[in-house]
This record gives sequence, structure tokens and C-alpha cells, in this order.
Amino acid sequence: MARSSSSFYCSLSLLFFLSLALSSDSTKTVKVEDICKQFQEDKTFCISFLNSKPGGVAGADLLSLGVYTMSATSTNLTNALGLIDSLLKNTTDHNLREIYLECQEQYEDLKDDVDSSKACFEHGRCYIDVNRLAGDVADAADDCSGHGDIPLPDTNPLKQESIVLGYVSEILIIITDFLMQK
Ligand SMILES: *[C@@H]1O[C@H](CO)[C@@H](O)[C@H](O)[C@H]1NC(C)=O
Ligand SMILES: *[C@@H]1O[C@H](CO)[C@@H](O)[C@H](O)[C@H]1NC(C)=O
Repeated sequence: MARSSSSFYCSLSLLFFLSLALSSDSTKTVKVEDICKQFQEDKTFCISFLNSKPGGVAGADLLSLGVYTMSATSTNLTNALGLIDSLLKNTTDHNLREIYLECQEQYEDLKDDVDSSKACFEHGRCYIDVNRLAGDVADAADDCSGHGDIPLPDTNPLKQESIVLGYVSEILIIITDFLMQK
């Protein structure tokens, strides 16, 4: 009798720790400074971007920072696509048009992927998928910043927007890296 009741309590506490372990990542908190410490580019951008999260960052869990960053990625992609539309209307330069069309295709696909992964991510799943997707956005943003075959001048508006998109997607990579570490 004693033995079976102690094993009962043993499995109860096991269940307890298991549920703690399972719930810990969605309620995990990491300080903004610790996220931005991993950010290789403009640290001031990283800190002010995360601190602009609606509702504030004090006590904000990692997942809610991730969801915020993911929706900024989607907004940035939408705005970049609008910009590309108007650039295409005004540009006759063949090389530039080639970049714009290439970036348009990449950004459209990525926007669809970001939007369709959003619900899963909000439920605290799909961390690996979102991490990879953020990596794809960062790569595309790098190409569309003129780091590909065809360079863009610093004053090019798509270059400027793609640099910010690149920053935001790098921050999403860092946050999903943290979320994947149990
Ligand atoms: C991209 O997102 C950042 C962060 O939210 C914002 O500061 C910037 O204005 C956005 N740019 C565009 C073009 O959407
Ligand atoms: C394209 O041209 C229109 C009309 O001249 C102008 O209003 C618009 O700002 C231009 N867009 C870009 C991205 O240069």
C-alpha cells in the first residue's frame, strides 16, 4: 500500500514537472538587452524597436515579443511591396527593374508564408518553421539591399527599406532561437 501511494505521488510530481517544462517556453521571459546583445547590426535599432511593442516590454514574455516582431515583418513586407509597385511604374532602367521584379516575387512569397505561419506561432508552436522563415526573409532582404549581383546606391528607397526588414527579421531569428532553447 505504502509503496503504491508513494509511486502515485511520484508520478504526480513527475506530471507537475512535465507540465512546467512544457509550459515554460511560452511564458519564458528574456530581457530586451539580452536579445539585442545577440544582434550584430544596429543595437540601438534593436532596443528601440522592441521597446516600442504596444503594451510595453516590462514582464513581456518571449513569445509575445516574437509575435510582435513577426507582425512587424509582415507589415514591412507589405510596405516594401507597395514601394516596389511604385518604383516599377517609374523605372525604365533595365538592371533596376530586374532587381525590383526579383524582390517583388521573393517578398510576395515570403509575405504569404509569414501570414500563414502566424496562427501556429501565436499558439506557441512552429518555432523551427518561423526561425527558418525569418532566415529566408533575412536572405531576401540582403539581396534586395543590393548585396546581390546588382548593387543598389545607398539612396535607393528599396535598399533602405530592405535594410530595416533585414534588421527586423534578424531579431525574429534571435527570439525564435531563444524559444527553441528549452
Ligand atoms: C518596418 O518596421 C520597422 C519596425 O516596426 C519600422 O520602424 C519601419 O518604419 C517599417 N518600415 C516599413 C517601410 O514598413
Ligand atoms: C513615382 O512617380 C510618381 C509620379 O511622378 C510620384 O508621385 C511617386 O512618388 C514616384 N514613386 C517613387 C517611388 O519614386
